[in-house]
Amino acid sequence: MNILIVGNGGREHAFAWKIRQSSLCNQLFIAPGNAGTALIGENAPIAVDDFEGLGKLCLAKDINLVVVGPEVPLVKGIRDYFEAHTDLRKIGLVGPGKLGAQLEGSKDFSKQFMIRNGVPTAKARTFLSHESAEAVNYLNTCTPPIVLKADGLAAGKGVIITDSIDEAKVAIKEMLEDKKFGSASSKVLIEEFLDGIELSVFVLTDGEHYVVLPEAKDYKRIGDGDTGPNTGGMGAVSPVAFADEAFMKKVDEQVIKPTIAGLKKESIPYKGFIFIGLMNVKGEPLVIEYNSRMGDPETEAVLTRIESDLVELFNACANGNLQNQKISISNDYAVTVVMASGGYPNEFEKGKVIKGLADSDKAWTFHAGTTLKDGKVVTNGGRVLAVTGKGTSINEASENAYSTVSKITWDGVYFRKDISQDLKRIENDLKQ
Ligand code: AMP
Ligand code: GLY
Repeated sequence: MNILIVGNGGREHAFAWKIRQSSLCNQLFIAPGNAGTALIGENAPIAVDDFEGLGKLCLAKDINLVVVGPEVPLVKGIRDYFEAHTDLRKIGLVGPGKLGAQLEGSKDFSKQFMIRNGVPTAKARTFLSHESAEAVNYLNTCTPPIVLKADGLAAGKGVIITDSIDEAKVAIKEMLEDKKFGSASSKVLIEEFLDGIELSVFVLTDGEHYVVLPEAKDYKRIGDGDTGPNTGGMGAVSPVAFADEAFMKKVDEQVIKPTIAGLKKESIPYKGFIFIGLMNVKGEPLVIEYNSRMGDPETEAVLTRIESDLVELFNACANGNLQNQKISISNDYAVTVVMASGGYPNEFEKGKVIKGLADSDKAWTFHAGTTLKDGKVVTNGGRVLAVTGKGTSINEASENAYSTVSKITWDGVYFRKDISQDLKRIENDLKQ
């Protein structure tokens, strides 16, 4: 079959890499793709939210399956567009419709959904743009740290965590009154702070049945030791030591099952990924957020551990047949280190020539923000590469990742030096 992947990041390069291994995949297209995906399939210069352009490409190339990577086209309704057109309706698509994507597109919607369906989550109150005074009064009753969340999509920047109530008051006024995040902050949630360790859990569902992919831990802050501003993610590790069988059973029973049952009960069709960001608070899973897609860079770690044919799984998901699918997961470790442009997540320069890219049988280099210029691979984004090392232990996987990272360079390259260190400590503690 002919397959189209929508997106241009490391996640989409990892999808392309895994999909290419399937005997079911004939032609592979990536829109718009990057310099890495160009090595595996054919890039098509179409924006992720140009539904008309994507639809035309699907018809011209006889596409049978579309895999949607990022949240923006999902929240804008790519599935709804395809379903509304007779000639596109028959094409399988991995990704929920506009309604399901609200699990990610509106933090207020997802919070109310969790409450209605008994999914454990942090307590929160929502304030509208004309309720800034009430929000400030409410903050006076809160104990720091305070968590403020813009309701809508804000490219990973819409969450503010502060120890100062005064700072929170200024921030909430900026969000509600000055529309700091545009319409995304026309509603703001003030949420209880959860103290624990974070875990990303990935579910592929057809709205009724589901398979659980390997879990991962993400490293959101820019600096070593989890310091500095939040980013899209600077690294990922899978598996995660504390996500043992007993904990994952709780996640399944208390979080995944009620989530899928809730979607059904509320008549929200859902064929795609649910990425559950949760906090392990003293052994109990509490949901921080849902995303309607896979994580990036978690995908670059997680997919290297899946032994099953991804196209078979995606096909079953798109056709509502996941009940017959089993997923086979390797016991190997995967450690992903993101290499970024100097200055990211603030301003950074593009167009720097990347040197030292080479194949390795111990690590994969997934391209995120790269493009080809005059036959050379150059930087083209904040997060540039995601290097995944594999190994039979977390140490070995991490050494393999960092050994490859050390061979690659460009002007201003930056990466965290401590990806997986905390999990090594946790793993050692659990062994004692
Ligand atoms: P989000 O955009 O919802 O993923 O939030 C970004 C990050 O903020 C999360 O990955 C957590 O590290 C942190 N965070 C969000 N909500 C909470 C919370 N209620 N308690 C503690 N940390 C949180
Ligand atoms: N790495 C976190 C995310 O994809 O949202």
